[in-house]
Amino acid sequence: MLVKHSRRTIRSGCKKCGNRSLYWAHDTEQGGDHCEDCDTSGKWVLIGAAGTLHKCAGDDVTTSGAVEEKAPNKLSAVPANEHEEKAVSTPVPTLSAPAGDAFAAFQSLVASLAPKVDRDEVAAMIKSEMDNIIVPTRTVVERASGERRIIPNSHEKLADVTTDLLAGEHVLMVGPAGTGKSTIAEQAAESIGIPYYSISLSPMTAASQIIGYMQAEGEYVRSLFREAFEHGGVFHFDEFDNGHPSVLAVINASLANGHMAFPDQMVKRHPDFRCVASANTYGRGPDRAYVGRQQVDAATLDRFSIETIGVDEALEQSLCLATGIDKQKALEVLDYVRRLRKNAEESAMTVVISPRASVGMCRLLAAGKTWDAAVESRVHRGMGEKDWNKLRAAC
Ligand SMILES: Nc1ncnc2c1ncn2[C@@H]1O[C@H](COP(=O)(O)OP(=O)(O)OP(=O)(O)O)[C@@H](O)[C@H]1O
Ligand SMILES: [Mg+2]
Repeated sequence: MLVKHSRRTIRSGCKKCGNRSLYWAHDTEQGGDHCEDCDTSGKWVLIGAAGTLHKCAGDDVTTSGAVEEKAPNKLSAVPANEHEEKAVSTPVPTLSAPAGDAFAAFQSLVASLAPKVDRDEVAAMIKSEMDNIIVPTRTVVERASGERRIIPNSHEKLADVTTDLLAGEHVLMVGPAGTGKSTIAEQAAESIGIPYYSISLSPMTAASQIIGYMQAEGEYVRSLFREAFEHGGVFHFDEFDNGHPSVLAVINASLANGHMAFPDQMVKRHPDFRCVASANTYGRGPDRAYVGRQQVDAATLDRFSIETIGVDEALEQSLCLATGIDKQKALEVLDYVRRLRKNAEESAMTVVISPRASVGMCRLLAAGKTWDAAVESRVHRGMGEKDWNKLRAAC
């Protein structure tokens, strides 16, 4: 005979099939411990709601798999599953209150133990923490089709550059070294959803690297620029003001007309072809910090919308923290590097203190280098003593 023991279904289910709609019972026809609750003896078994023996798929008809897994708890002669259930609803013993009042008593005990919280104090703490947090721009590009692209940790100018490109403009980004121009170019292409190509110009870059060339056997060798021009894409000319004038003339020709002569044939410009250039100068020739830069032909410059890219301090901070350095140390580095940067600008020094200096210092400190060693590697870098003293006068 099966004598139902549990009032509620078991908590953790049958170990073999996971069925939770089961109850513990005693099978009096098989020997087992005496249960005082039920005043009967029998082997512990699991039964279903209908009161019949639970059989897992694959078990033979006389055995419940769960019974083999779960012996009755020796301490209380209650199966472990049932015991867990009871433990949950056991009143808190230290309260010595009637069972019905136990929960209220428990609540009042918790309330008396809880630390007293001053609302104004908490508000002030939150405010001071919030003042410390600088969140870099997150650029969201929403297409007419409703598709959204989110570029986290982007430069504050990414949205402007992307807007210019979407409006059909070519863009020249001008700013000091390391402010994130090349990264913006790549992210702008990603935002728009068209391929990205890039080439870094130097005085040695040949026109053939832009437009491709014919091999001796008469076969045309394509270039990345040809891909973008013919099939669409953002083509980025990095270090634009470092290119040879003959190359800049080729670039100018590609932007001037709807067609361009490549070595093998005339090619029609794809409507999704966009040109992004980045430079450290506005194309008016070398300056004190960026010597050897080319003056860019006015007609070429005229084809670009110009965006000035400065240091985005929120992004700089985020990049520093991403090195894994302790926050306090990162803030110390940022404070130090920014003072040097400000001093270099105000004193019209030729030295460039870019975010590469702050991020690099953080990386070196996180790797265990000393402060002095990190400064030496990322800021001092063999600078003459006179300049160095001038630069750190503000620190
Ligand atoms: N939004 C960003 N997310 C992650 N890293 C960035 C981001 N912007 C810039 N960086 C990092 O900062 C460094 C400088 O960025 P980038 O090369 O884009 O600057 P740049 O203005 O093109 O410099 P240069 O004038 O020297 O060519 C790189 O190491 C780059 O990976
Ligand atoms: Mg660059």
